[in-house]
Amino acid sequence: MEPQALAFEERGSGPTLLFVHGFPLHAGMWKAQVAGLAKKATCVAVDLRGHGMSAEIPVDGATMDLHADDLAATLDELGTDQVDLVSLSMGGYVALAFWRRHRARVRSLIFVDTKAEADGDEAKAGRTATAELVGKDGMAPLWEKLRGALFGESPDDAVVAEVEKMILGFAPATAISDLIAMRERPDSTPDLAEIDVPTTWIHGAQDKMMPIAGTEALVGQMKDATLVAIPGAGHLSPMEQPKLVDEAILAHLARVRD
Ligand code: MLT
Repeated sequence: MEPQALAFEERGSGPTLLFVHGFPLHAGMWKAQVAGLAKKATCVAVDLRGHGMSAEIPVDGATMDLHADDLAATLDELGTDQVDLVSLSMGGYVALAFWRRHRARVRSLIFVDTKAEADGDEAKAGRTATAELVGKDGMAPLWEKLRGALFGESPDDAVVAEVEKMILGFAPATAISDLIAMRERPDSTPDLAEIDVPTTWIHGAQDKMMPIAGTEALVGQMKDATLVAIPGAGHLSPMEQPKLVDEAILAHLARVRD
C-alpha cells in the first residue's frame, strides 16, 4: 500500500503540534486540546487511515510503519517540515515508528498513556481473539470490555457517553486491522535510548490498561524525558482531564522553545 495524506482538523498558528489518536477512536478525542492550544500552536489532529474522516483510505493490512508514512505524506501536503508530535496509546506506537522512519521531522515528542514494548504472547492471543469477536459481533462487545478499563475511578458521564459513541460508531473492519497491526508491532524499547529530542510522557495516574509504573521505568531509559502524572484520569487523560493535559503540553512547549 502507498502512503497517503490523511484527513485532519487544523486550528491555530505557530509551530505545529501534530496529534495522533488511539484505538478505537479518531481525531475527535483531541477536541479539547485543539481548542485549548490553538493560541499557542498550529494544532493538527489527524484521522489515521480507515478512521474518522480518513475512512475511505484502505486500512486492511496497514502497519504502524504505513501509518507513520501517512503522517509524513500529510506533513508534505501541509508544507510542514517539523512537528511536536503528540500521540495517545496506539498513536504512540505510530509515533515510535515515525521516529524510526522520519526522525528529522520530529522536533519533540509527547507520549500520552502509551508504552514502548511489543505485545507478549498472551496479549497477541488476546488481539486475535478480540479481532474474531469484532468480526462476529461488531463493536458492542468490545465497548463492554473497554468501558471498565479505559477510564479513571470516577469518570465524567459526558466523557463516557462521548467515548461510547465513538466506539460504537467505529467500523469493525478498521478495528480488526488496528488489532492486527498492534499485535504485529515491534518492540520499540531499544529506540528509547536513541531518542535525543525533548520528550514528555503524560500519563493518567489511574490508567488501568497501562499502569503508570511502567512509564516511570521507560522515562529513566531516555536522555531528555520527563513524566507528568495526571490525577483523576485513566487511559484517556486528554479527554478526562483536558486542562491538566493542556498545561502539561504547554510546559513541554516552553521547554522545547526556550
Ligand atoms: C489504545 O488505547 O490505543 C489501545 O488500547 C492500545 C492497545 O490496546 O495497546
